[in-house]
Amino acid sequence: MRKRSVRDLDVRGRRVLVRADFNVPLEGGRITDDTRIRAALPTIRYLLEQGAAVILCSHLGRPKGKVVEELRLAPVARRLEELLGRPVRALPEVVGPQVEREVAGLQPGEVVLLENLRFHPGETANDPEFAAALARLADAYVNDAFGAAHRAHASVVGVAERLPAAAGFLLERELQVLGDLLERPRRPFWAVLGGAKVSDKIGVIERLLEVCDGLAIGGAMANTLLAARGFDVGRSIYEPEQVEPARRWLETAGDRLLLPADVVVTEKLEPGAPSRVVPVDRIPAGAMAVDVGPATLAAWQERLRGAGTVFWNGPLGVFEVEPFHRGTFALAEFLAGLEAVTVVGGGDSVAAVQRTGVAGRIDHISTGGGASLELLEGKELPGVAVLPEAPAPRGNGSGPGGAGAAGGASERGGPAGPGGGMAG
Ligand code: 3PG
Repeated sequence: MRKRSVRDLDVRGRRVLVRADFNVPLEGGRITDDTRIRAALPTIRYLLEQGAAVILCSHLGRPKGKVVEELRLAPVARRLEELLGRPVRALPEVVGPQVEREVAGLQPGEVVLLENLRFHPGETANDPEFAAALARLADAYVNDAFGAAHRAHASVVGVAERLPAAAGFLLERELQVLGDLLERPRRPFWAVLGGAKVSDKIGVIERLLEVCDGLAIGGAMANTLLAARGFDVGRSIYEPEQVEPARRWLETAGDRLLLPADVVVTEKLEPGAPSRVVPVDRIPAGAMAVDVGPATLAAWQERLRGAGTVFWNGPLGVFEVEPFHRGTFALAEFLAGLEAVTVVGGGDSVAAVQRTGVAGRIDHISTGGGASLELLEGKELPGVAVLPEAPAPRGNGSGPGGAGAAGGASERGGPAGPGGGMAG
């Protein structure tokens, strides 16, 4: 069921609280990837064009209810100013009398950014008083924070219960593209999962094994499956307690479940450390698998070449440490060259896509890591569940990011990722 859209709200002359996901990577106060900021721009611009005053809010990192200086949102406000071409005042607090005074004087077309929501303990606790204090700041609420929609936090759920609420363009688009993956993927539908832990992804693995025509698993997760297959994984990271479920998957999935055939092993996880490629049945006792090998990549590419849709989440190796980035980067480049509908989700795989310079050739880059996995697992996201349903259609209901721009994963060049046309 479609949720009420920002297009369905009457926002002229109103103050609108927009929950965005500005949880961006920072190095020494510098934003190293502004994809999530760009992805929120269509909703912010639309509201400003409609004559609203915009109160932005987001979390950044996990400060656990305390003020952490390095996690202030001021750098985000500065980047927003550059991208929007108008002032964005960063308020020094999340709620309170000073914030209330500032927002009371807001004029249509003005933008402020509240301080990091998680500086307040009421945010993650979905504290009713904190949610009410946030709601008092505005006349309406728009959730455009897909990346946080799986969190039942005050700014995601509590405020939506207290104000006329709607989904922003980014949230709509993510739900559409990822929903289409489950409901009407162009087949064959393949998924590639990587990352460290099977235990984080049990639900999504089981779900993908049901809906996909094939699933390839790499990264440290694959070590657990290799152990389940009876191989000695040496000093590689793996989860002994997940070997049992992994055995079940191997039995039921047959050749729809692809594992590495060879891996890059090293004795030291350091940049430039000596390494070599070995078949998975010959991982030395003192070594650890840190990347997939060339035979694995070749075999997977062979299977994926005819795919209609490919979803990818999680790196295939320790890609932050060179030269163990090769498998992950090679996968990013390979996916970019496929005819298939390609969807990438999760911070690390998105970073790999950005670093290889192929982001523009991926159909959809999801701004949600955990949120995209929970959605694919079939879970209802609290931040989506709380939004009211869309009113019955009247007219064509078009607007920026409207039916066309929010369209599902179809042809490349149609739905661009937030790093592409959507963020414009
Ligand atoms: C993310 O980075 O996946 C989102 O911003 C959610 O962050 P969280 O896992 O700290 O809730």
